[in-house]
Amino acid sequence: MIITCPKCARKHKVNPDSIKTFAKSKKKTILATCRSCKFKFPVAMDTLVESPKVTETVAPNSVLSARKICITLSKGGVGKTTTSVNLGAGLALAGYKVLLVDTDTQGQSSYILGKRPSAGLTELLTKELPLDECLMEARKNLWLLGGGKSLAGVKRIIDRKSFGAEYTLSEALKPLDQEYDFILIDTSPGWDQLIVNVLFYATEVLVPVALEVMPLHGLSEFIKSLGAIQKYRKEIQLKYILPTFMDARIQGPQTLHDQLKKLYPTHLCTPIRYNASLAEAPSFGKTIFEYAPGSNASEDYRELVKKISQDQTNLV
Ligand SMILES: Nc1ncnc2c1ncn2[C@@H]1O[C@H](COP(=O)(O)OP(=O)(O)OP(=O)(O)O)[C@@H](O)[C@H]1O
Ligand SMILES: [Mg+2]
Repeated sequence: MIITCPKCARKHKVNPDSIKTFAKSKKKTILATCRSCKFKFPVAMDTLVESPKVTETVAPNSVLSARKICITLSKGGVGKTTTSVNLGAGLALAGYKVLLVDTDTQGQSSYILGKRPSAGLTELLTKELPLDECLMEARKNLWLLGGGKSLAGVKRIIDRKSFGAEYTLSEALKPLDQEYDFILIDTSPGWDQLIVNVLFYATEVLVPVALEVMPLHGLSEFIKSLGAIQKYRKEIQLKYILPTFMDARIQGPQTLHDQLKKLYPTHLCTPIRYNASLAEAPSFGKTIFEYAPGSNASEDYRELVKKISQDQTNLV
């Protein structure tokens, strides 16, 4: 279900829970606010409600919900964090309101953004602090829920839960659903309870695949694990396969790219080229758009921002 802003023409995905709530109130029209241009406009309920059946009540204020994209692959060093941060920064620069959630004990997202948040995901999941105290505005439009070492303790808490463990993250992030256009979730390498939680929360998966090394085994293993999750959670979909470390000067990456193209034609994104600026930028606490705006890496991430934000199979 979608509504289109009459002013800026941006399409918004409608939160089905919100429709149920508004339908119950018997109002004929509701007022929607475009998260991009802030324009307020009326929406007729009968254009939103498909079925008159109203079964449950929730109380959100808005009908718009964020796209939740996790950036994940069990293999380490493939560009997950680099992609999470630069995709987030690029979307923020394009005017979208973005939340970057770092679920990794390495806490690299904060480092790349040059921030040292005093609280983050751990304090949220352990309920030590209220949600707004765990968030940090890292850049205009780009908010951060930082990760770090303390998440190791959270994983143990999740492991000890006797039921509903896989929904721990979803429950904690639920209030943020309608606050952002995009919620991006960076994950650690490997496979653990926190990654399972991410896959029970996100609806779209972006997998970076490093073309430097033999990646296809890791990718097919991951797709199998995702399939196991999809048996219990239908909403999660593999959406984007992003080749990283593309170096056209050598044959290996090109061959692997061709293989990916054959195997996953609909998921494949334009590759992110190998570029030393991407490795240098973090030590200056800068995104690629700040550190090397004219570089080909900046161009590649801009292209990714465009592809994802304009993806008609997902409405923003
Ligand atoms: N396209 C690229 N060209 C050159 N260097 C890159 C590129 N992408 C990422 N890097 C560098 O490669 C290293 C690994 O990238 P990154 O930390 O994003 O991977 P990761 O998948 O998040 O790793 P981990 O699994 O450990 O979390 C970093 O030093 C990063 O700066
Ligand atoms: Mg990482």
